[in-house]
Amino acid sequence: MVKKYDFLVIGSGLAGMSFALKVADKGTVALCCKTGLEEANTFYAQGGIASVTKTTDEFAKHIEDTLIAGDGLCDREVVEMVIKEAPKEIDQLVRWGVDFDKDETGHFDLHKEGGHSDFRILHHKDSTGAEIQQALINRVKNHPNIHVYSQHFAIEILTQHHLGQNVTRHSDNIECYGAYILNMRTRKIHTFLAKTTLMATGGIGTIYQTTTNPMIATGDGIAMVYRAKGAVKHMEFVQFHPTALYHPVERPSFLITEALRGYGAVLKTRDGLPFMQKYDSRGSLAPRDIVARAIDTEMKSRGDDYVCLDVTHKDPEETKRHFPMIYEKCLSLGIDITKDLIPVAPAAHYLCGGITVDLNARTSIRRLYAAGECACTGLHGANRLASNSLLEAIVYADKAACDAKKLVDGLTFEERIPFWNDEGTRLPEEMVLITQSQKEVGQIMSTYVGIVRSNLRLKRALDRLDILYKETERLFIRSVVSKEICELRNIVNTGYLVIKQAQERKESRGLHYTIDYPDKNELA
Ligand code: FAD
Ligand code: SIN
Repeated sequence: MVKKYDFLVIGSGLAGMSFALKVADKGTVALCCKTGLEEANTFYAQGGIASVTKTTDEFAKHIEDTLIAGDGLCDREVVEMVIKEAPKEIDQLVRWGVDFDKDETGHFDLHKEGGHSDFRILHHKDSTGAEIQQALINRVKNHPNIHVYSQHFAIEILTQHHLGQNVTRHSDNIECYGAYILNMRTRKIHTFLAKTTLMATGGIGTIYQTTTNPMIATGDGIAMVYRAKGAVKHMEFVQFHPTALYHPVERPSFLITEALRGYGAVLKTRDGLPFMQKYDSRGSLAPRDIVARAIDTEMKSRGDDYVCLDVTHKDPEETKRHFPMIYEKCLSLGIDITKDLIPVAPAAHYLCGGITVDLNARTSIRRLYAAGECACTGLHGANRLASNSLLEAIVYADKAACDAKKLVDGLTFEERIPFWNDEGTRLPEEMVLITQSQKEVGQIMSTYVGIVRSNLRLKRALDRLDILYKETERLFIRSVVSKEICELRNIVNTGYLVIKQAQERKESRGLHYTIDYPDKNELA
């Protein structure tokens, strides 16, 4: 079946839903997501969203903090643009119904996180993402021009390749005409023709064994764009959050927000000794790459599986009031955070790289935009500053919306796209072939492509992934399309991009640290 929309949005996180709301008065919108509307990284965000909102803070300070974290690879023009537009987008969120916490004077109650020189994180207790997600869902569901397709899995974007034409990588005349999308309830694949498409598929955390990301984060959008021969960059910069709750069997790992350290929690070894001052004068609130590497070093040198966060010196009632979700979660595991140390370990958390976009969120493929975690805008450079990603998602969704609204009137549907061809395919005989390969990707990435890398480890990772790549492609070609086989294909593709781009970077910078090139290449 063919469906036609002015705007196709793939992803229902902050990027996808805010874009949909902004373009919906201009034309028809299909908003698709592979599970329910709620299940997105956005929903799990805890700490909050960074913006200069008080008179004693300054754009210049937020800009400087972002540039320092980015370790020389941020695009200054992008950083300035995003940070200056932040207050406007915060106003928009409030108008959509997001309830950010206020203090007794009626001003925003601001948190501070690692790398920030001031208190500027707006939040809703310790469940900011859920608050944002719910407010947007309420709006999206009530907009007559937005058609929600949940349980709809985007398989491939449509380009000239589907018209039988040759497409060369990075050429500037590739065009996107929509996507093939699998209705997971009926197992039918529909052709969604669109005048413009937004990729807003979020992160890649599940390519690692341990991650804070929900299971939807399989890098689908990045893999789709890469296969369509679009540009993807900075994939080597994977951010490991220093403090995920240590729980060997829980996946995803529950996050212990950095705001807890901003509030005063101190990192200690299992025997209760603070260690961060050895690594950085900012102690437990140093930027994430430094904290995660320090924890990794402590764990490896001591042979421990985790370190601890200590918040027991703070007022118990205040702790419970600010961090109710964390308090309850830990208590359910027998840890009373007002009295006990919290066991934590780093976990894959955020991808700084992704689909290359310009200042208008345009990708290298015409008629295709990208926003949110799947996009690489130049804001984060080699390392993201805490709570800058929700901000980036909403600002770039706005950029994409403004541009797409101007473009859409001059575009038509590409009617010659054929139906999906699944001739000769059959149900995979054993699901274990897929699930085992997924586990192997996680093991390869966590063992060889983690916080500390080397030439040898990266080569070993690539060699092993190559075997999985060939097996997966064979399986994909002969199988009836399912979410599981597509996700496996996408995590293999995404893992490949992380490894290849890590191999290409012959230096250590930001989140990419390799023992073979421990210094920064200042000429790069
Ligand atoms: P997501 O919110 O991840 O949405 C992705 C959407 O794409 C989902 O709807 C999914 O179903 C859909 N999708 C994916 N693939 C397909 C496909 N093939 N077909 C159809 N649909 C698809 N950032 C901050 O700034 N502040 C924080 O405090 C913060 N805390 C965080 C805490 C946790 C635990 C996590 C995991 C992340 C946190 N982040 C935080 C990062 C931030 O939440 C994400 O970067 C951001 O929410 C990404 O939004 P998004 O719209 O790009 O994608
Ligand atoms: C956190 O709350 O520590 C996560 C913030 C972020 O990822 O920006």
